[in-house]
Amino acid sequence: MSAVPSAGNGKITVPSILERKSRVPSQNSTAGKITCLTAYDYPTARLLDEAGVDILLVGDSVGMAVLGYESTLPVTLDEMLHHTRAVRRATRHALLVADMPYGSFHVSLDESVRNAVRLVKEGGAEAVKVEGGERRIELIARLVEAEIPVMGHVGLTPQSVNALGGFHVQGKTGDAARQVERDARAVEAAGAFAVVLESMPRELAARITEKLRIPTIGIGAGPDCDGQVLVIHDLLGFGEGRRPKFVRKYADLAGEISRAVGAFRDDVKAGAFPSDAESYHSAAELREQEGPQGLKPLRKVTV
Ligand code: KIV
Repeated sequence: MSAVPSAGNGKITVPSILERKSRVPSQNSTAGKITCLTAYDYPTARLLDEAGVDILLVGDSVGMAVLGYESTLPVTLDEMLHHTRAVRRATRHALLVADMPYGSFHVSLDESVRNAVRLVKEGGAEAVKVEGGERRIELIARLVEAEIPVMGHVGLTPQSVNALGGFHVQGKTGDAARQVERDARAVEAAGAFAVVLESMPRELAARITEKLRIPTIGIGAGPDCDGQVLVIHDLLGFGEGRRPKFVRKYADLAGEISRAVGAFRDDVKAGAFPSDAESYHSAAELREQEGPQGLKPLRKVTV
């Protein structure tokens, strides 16, 4: 199947994601909920795409999940492009969204648009995600004008970790909740096709979901959002450090990898790997020539 959308080829598109909002029949229904996972490499993206995940997000969480940075702040546009291209090669069905990393949309509007265009043109992204609410109105409008669909991201925005003083749940007081709600409305008004709601009380996320016409994708925002997103390494148990309470670990990949690598190490040390069946063999006539000293030289070599 081509990754280019055409009627009826099953490709998830920006309009089909928007349509899902109107199809979610009630807050408590699970029908039509949007699934989104992060992906950073070809083999993982292929599995997620084949499993029918709606949106693959090349998040700047790649910095912490894969590149070993302590926050998402050091992630560069070139790093995002590298990972987006890998995910692009694997993705046939899902909508591919790439994060705009910190610094790529903070200097000027022109430069921001240029950077987003690179994610589409060189990375193969079909949409970009931008962190921030009211402050991003102009930027989102400019990107949409440049034919680049935008996913917003409000609540806890990890690129603001220094300004926020850490990774904390947002919108817990009346004033803070009203600000998160204003941010979500601003993102919608600017033309975003969906918005990530991160780390906020479920009641606030439910209220925002009720009020917006675009789908909300929650992470640590309770079950009433129109969809859910998780970092794939968290879901698979492949991360390190403390797991936030909203993460459900569906597998223990770290444990499984440690077990497998330990078994390989033990087998090699004990001479149990590789076995004869796991080895290549010389042709029969060559084997006849092979004495205990190995192959006889074909001709005498004089030095
Ligand atoms: O970078 C990321 O992975 C994200 C998701 C957690 C929403 O922004």
